[in-house]
Amino acid sequence: MRAQQNQTRVDVLAAAPLFTPLELGGLTLRNRVAVAPMTRVSATEDGRATQQMAEYYSAFAAGGFGLVITEGTYTDRAFSQGYRFQPGLTDDAQRDAWSRVVEGVHRQGGRIFAQLMHAGALSQWNPYNSGTRGPSAVKPRGQQMTIYHGSGDYSLPEPLSQEEISVAIRGFANAAVRAREAGFDGVEIHGANGYLLDQFLTAGVNLRGDRYGGGIERRVRLIVEVVEAVRAAVGANFAVGVRISQGKVNDFTHKWSEGEPAAAVVFETLDSLPLDYIHTTEFEAWQPAFGAGLSLAALAKKYSRKPVLANGGLHAPAQAAGMIDRGEADFVSLGRGALMHPDWVRKVSGERAIEEFDRGLILPIADLENARRYVERMGRR
Ligand SMILES: Cc1cc2nc3c(=O)[nH]c(=O)nc-3n(C[C@H](O)[C@H](O)[C@H](O)COP(=O)(O)O)c2cc1C
Repeated sequence: MRAQQNQTRVDVLAAAPLFTPLELGGLTLRNRVAVAPMTRVSATEDGRATQQMAEYYSAFAAGGFGLVITEGTYTDRAFSQGYRFQPGLTDDAQRDAWSRVVEGVHRQGGRIFAQLMHAGALSQWNPYNSGTRGPSAVKPRGQQMTIYHGSGDYSLPEPLSQEEISVAIRGFANAAVRAREAGFDGVEIHGANGYLLDQFLTAGVNLRGDRYGGGIERRVRLIVEVVEAVRAAVGANFAVGVRISQGKVNDFTHKWSEGEPAAAVVFETLDSLPLDYIHTTEFEAWQPAFGAGLSLAALAKKYSRKPVLANGGLHAPAQAAGMIDRGEADFVSLGRGALMHPDWVRKVSGERAIEEFDRGLILPIADLENARRYVERMGRR
């Protein structure tokens, strides 16, 4: 019994670095634990956030998280939408629906950023247009995601024309303005996990011969142009971040073939942009990014002076706090840990146990109805 109590006590002490405030993009976050962006395919058919979503998001703020990052939200009515029942930020009705979500989080003392996402070649559903677009005509690996209502192979995308690239960039900028109007505290540009901006970053997927293709210095250009357009549209005093990963939803184990030199180019480039933070995600945030050496988060710290948000397998408090303690990150985000425990921050500060993630929460469909039924079944929370 005593040993068990000690164990818990050591954990709480070790977790202490998570519970100090953080200044970020003109905001003060009350602690260093964020909810990672998670697609929940629970919006209306026409992309409006619902009351159920407002309750879902405000529960994280009530549970102590300092920052909530929303699920990937589509940005234009051309080719950005990825999933059926995905929320958007493409018109006033979608903006106003989000404002109710934002109010709920603010009422609980939390901050909330909208994640802006263009699915590119990984789009599984798009009522606005037929066909998919990507950097090049390369069929995505893997299969569509069944937890988001997909099945079978991905479509072969058509390469985006220069005009379509301009539409995509404007879409990010316009969506960011709507996010600001809805009351969000910031936006996160989704440059990770295999979606459009990451498709441009990825050798073998981006085969373009124009200014967006070639070496990593050129493949990163679309991210640069999106960040610049978003910042120009929202002005100063509004947090803007970018999410970066090696792995992809359709290719989990992908590694940048150029290794650390690629990381140097990506993070030095992001450092030069008007950004407030860099969000890195890996399967396990603390593992070396390239077999040996530094983690991806630590590489972001090494090659930039931006605050770094680390993600990936950090639901054990000591593991999360270790990232901050060792200077590999400034704050951390939890995905599955937050789904399992919307009150993770309160639990950990109250010395209560954390359970492992149960995939029943997102299977067979990752929507809020499925999660509600799971909680009912398990008698949890
Ligand atoms: C159900 C689900 C949906 C997700 N949707 C998104 C998303 O919309 N945008 C994104 O950047 N990452 C998304 N992710 C990835 C998470 O943000 C996170 O990177 C991943 O779960 C690993 O972190 P964890 O170990 O804390 O769960 C999703 C993850 C899950 C489990």
